Amino acid sequence: SEMIQLSSRSQSLGYALALRFLALVLWGNPRARALDNGLAMTPTMGWLHWERFMCNVDCREEPYSCISEQLFMQMADLMVSDGWKDVGYEYLCIDDCWMAPKRDLEGKLQADPERFPGGIRRLASYFIHSFIHKYGIYTYIFNKNMDLPGSFFLEIYSQIYIIYYIYLISYFTHCFLTGYKHMSLALNKTGRSIVYSCEWPLYMRPFKKPNYKEIRQYCNHWRSFADISDSWESVKSILDWTSSNQEKIVGVAGPGGWNDPDMLVIGNFGLSWDQQVTHMALWAIMAAPLFMSNDLRSISPQAKALLQDKDVIAINQDPLGKQGYLLRKVDSFEVWERPLSDLAWAVAIINKQETGGPRSYTISIDSLGRGVACNPACHITQILPVKRELGFHEWISRLKIWVNPTGTVLLRIGKRTTASNSLF
Ligand SMILES: *[C@@H]1O[C@H](CO)[C@@H](O)[C@H](O)[C@H]1NC(C)=O
Repeated sequence: SEMIQLSSRSQSLGYALALRFLALVLWGNPRARALDNGLAMTPTMGWLHWERFMCNVDCREEPYSCISEQLFMQMADLMVSDGWKDVGYEYLCIDDCWMAPKRDLEGKLQADPERFPGGIRRLASYFIHSFIHKYGIYTYIFNKNMDLPGSFFLEIYSQIYIIYYIYLISYFTHCFLTGYKHMSLALNKTGRSIVYSCEWPLYMRPFKKPNYKEIRQYCNHWRSFADISDSWESVKSILDWTSSNQEKIVGVAGPGGWNDPDMLVIGNFGLSWDQQVTHMALWAIMAAPLFMSNDLRSISPQAKALLQDKDVIAINQDPLGKQGYLLRKVDSFEVWERPLSDLAWAVAIINKQETGGPRSYTISIDSLGRGVACNPACHITQILPVKRELGFHEWISRLKIWVNPTGTVLLRIGKRTTASNSLF
């Protein structure tokens, strides 16, 4: 066993070097200044209609699932009565397709009068009445004369009236060089604290390398990658994009500004149970905003329990606010980790093999948490797929984990304890 210990220690030296390099890459620079609006100190949580309800405006044929006042009123009631708000999903957001095809007489965007008979104003007061105190809206600027700065400002100010009723704005413009900045400054000038969600890097990427430090100064979260859809292909492609760009994006995230890999589609149709577990676990590791897009009127108890899992949400909302990263790929396993407050770490092991049954992966405890998480010992709790105490583990020990195909095991590694110091 002495031999095993030795080899394990020298192996860990190698890990330590590799990890120090990774740490330098990810945290070499101090975090850029965030948008100074005091908001999104942890990733924003809520509900958003887009992936599940899309742009369904046919209320005659599909009154139950069209984008209407009634849909949002029902979601508002359920967010409170079914415990969503209690666990942190506090923002209720209206995505695209709320607008009428025509502007009002003053040239302002207006809610479709048939689908939103009381307009945004009545909906806002309904939300407040239902104890949903934070709600948001999607808007965009498409102006024929967009290149003329004057008309751009007129357009922003013609939309400011909506802003007086909302707490989060999700904003899209093709005018990516100036549009997102101008909107951010216009929001600031309203004097109201409004979470600002951007698609800036997503639309900039084809033309120019996004400057994430700059984006962080103007937006509370920003989308870099394509819209999520209700499929494993989509979830996988988001994870792959994120890990292959982690040197650029992980270090930028922090209190006030987050990378946004898009909505949670848990509780819909396209993901198996194991894939939903992977989706939830990795959105926690990535410090992602958690916006569900599902039907709270008919969600299964299992999906609800996953989305309301307090231990996973605690990882996502960890106050240290550091985004996790892919630590290594071995075979078709991926190991991701995220530093948490109180010297704790979250670790996710994904089995990306799409055939066969559960497979085992053996972790060297000393390879986790940049070699410090478990020195000299740590307490490990399995959070997903089910909560289980895995007990104390010494630095040099190994842990065998079984993971289902396309599933994930999410662990929380607790801080060093004085009791375990006696081992050394
Ligand atoms: C506007 O920006 C200033 C300077 O960054 C900041 O101090 C202030 O809190 C901001 N106001 C709002 C409402 O976001």
